Amino acid sequence: MTATLNFATAPGHQVLAAAGKRILRPGGKAATEQFFAWANFQPGETVLELAASFGESAIALAKRFNVRVVGVEKNPDSVAKARENIKAAGLQDRVTIIEGDIFQLDKITGKFDYVLAEAILTMQSDVGKSKILSAIKKHLKPGSKFLSHEMLVRSNESEVRKSLSQTIRVNANPLTLEEWESACRKAGLSLQQWKAGEMGLLNLSQMVRDEGLFGTVKIVWNVLFNSNLRPRVLQMRRSFQEQRNHIGYIVFWAKVT
Ligand SMILES: C[S@@+](CC[C@H](N)C(=O)[O-])C[C@H]1O[C@@H](n2cnc3c(N)ncnc32)[C@H](O)[C@@H]1O
Repeated sequence: MTATLNFATAPGHQVLAAAGKRILRPGGKAATEQFFAWANFQPGETVLELAASFGESAIALAKRFNVRVVGVEKNPDSVAKARENIKAAGLQDRVTIIEGDIFQLDKITGKFDYVLAEAILTMQSDVGKSKILSAIKKHLKPGSKFLSHEMLVRSNESEVRKSLSQTIRVNANPLTLEEWESACRKAGLSLQQWKAGEMGLLNLSQMVRDEGLFGTVKIVWNVLFNSNLRPRVLQMRRSFQEQRNHIGYIVFWAKVT
């Protein structure tokens, strides 16, 4: 870490990462698999990944489908960790992580066969979502796909947004299916297929599937025995449980209209 994390105020994803969590998206790896299936990646195709974090999805894509991935990530610690992971996987020729801001995608030249974004649009305001979606459209080749994995709100919208924002300490602004569809449409993207499911980020069974048994034990241990981490993680878990009938994950793909 380049700076000491203030556990009381840090965004939820940084707290979870400090606890040892590597997969930081609401539907976990299983939801990501769904849009991998929709995508039909071909060797040599190109992917732009927004908020690539530790490079987990970028590495999985390059390894399994032999595509070339450019990831954009703002947090220098995550960039360093992602580069380490890419090197360890021997994928430096296929995966590049750029330290940068997804609000400045104009700095990235070229168009891609896919743009992938997981657990990043939810955190943006409506204006922010619209700016990023418009920039995504500009980076898509004709006939290409935008693949998205975000939080869904089904009901009780204002209560959910308030509770999540308070516990995650970011502007948590999940949308309904109709709102995701409309945000895409306004940016010139047309939603083609979608799937929704349970918000499982802090469910024990999803954690074992995402992080493995050893990884899960490590996370649980860190949460139990680190008195700075514990209140924040338990507070997030409680909020997800309280809101479980109103929230979930959504994965969808959209194409340029
Ligand atoms: C919730 S995590 C999602 C990480 C990853 N996509 C995943 O699914 O596991 C959010 C990530 O977005 C990064 N991030 C937040 N705002 C960003 C921005 N404006 N530009 C680039 N990355 C950003 C954070 O540093 C963090 O790594």
